[in-house]
Amino acid sequence: MATIIDGKAIAAEVRSEVREDVAKWTADGHAPPYLAVILVGDNPASASYVRGKIKASQDAGIAGDTLKFDASISEKALLSVIQDLNDSPHVSGILVQLPLPGHLDSSRIIAALNPDKDVDGLHTVNAGRLVTDSQGFVPCTPAGIVELLRRSNIPTEGQHAVILGRSHLVGRPLASLLLRKQYNATVTVCHSRTKNLPEVCRTADILVAAIGRTHFVSADMIKPGAAIIDVGINRVEDPKHKRGYYLTGDVDYNAAKELAGYITPVPGGVGPMTIAMLLKNTMTAAKLLG
Ligand code: GUN
Repeated sequence: MATIIDGKAIAAEVRSEVREDVAKWTADGHAPPYLAVILVGDNPASASYVRGKIKASQDAGIAGDTLKFDASISEKALLSVIQDLNDSPHVSGILVQLPLPGHLDSSRIIAALNPDKDVDGLHTVNAGRLVTDSQGFVPCTPAGIVELLRRSNIPTEGQHAVILGRSHLVGRPLASLLLRKQYNATVTVCHSRTKNLPEVCRTADILVAAIGRTHFVSADMIKPGAAIIDVGINRVEDPKHKRGYYLTGDVDYNAAKELAGYITPVPGGVGPMTIAMLLKNTMTAAKLLG
């Protein structure tokens, strides 16, 4: 039976550390860090994530606002909003909630951010800094995953980490992070064309599922004793639930927990860590600006 990694409790620790950091910063006479979140359109999941991010910021003493725009906003108008936020000395961090509506080119929008305000770590400058082991912002979900491993005393040195999914938000930056000398993992990144996927997964000491497919990871893909990190947050329609749906991960949790050494639940695993690391990055951004 696996040890359940309590992401909510670990995120609460990180958030309280950030709260202390913010308190010291403001006690030294600085304005509180300020996070601007850009939300375009009316995707209910995005709106809910953004509410969570702003509420957590406020709890930590970070100021912030959600800038909401109609789905029809033009790329030019959005780029001009970003320019204003880049130029404003009051704004420490800027986050563009993804996905954006189809007519907006998200890579062009992200490229317009000042990399030193890119608290989500998605700008190519920050991606480059990550792969070259330079100081920069690391995307919040991968940063949260390594923090979960570290604070749960799960070793990474010499361990085989298998990552399912090669996204720019999770899979690729996580691979770069785990390769750092600080973690020294041996990393395999799998995707839709990987051959013999169950076999590869069974060699994982740390298996990270970030593909967005409900219960894709089954018991036969798990090495007994492995640490299973489930990044998936999938909505499953179910009229029996109050909201008409429930949330579940990429891992068949009930089967996996019988075999694994450690496992993250969904919800309450990786999700809260993503928010905690955003707060940490925002505090860092405020310090960078001075
Ligand atoms: N959409 C889903 N997860 C994320 C995230 O971590 N950052 C942003 N900007 N958008 C997201």
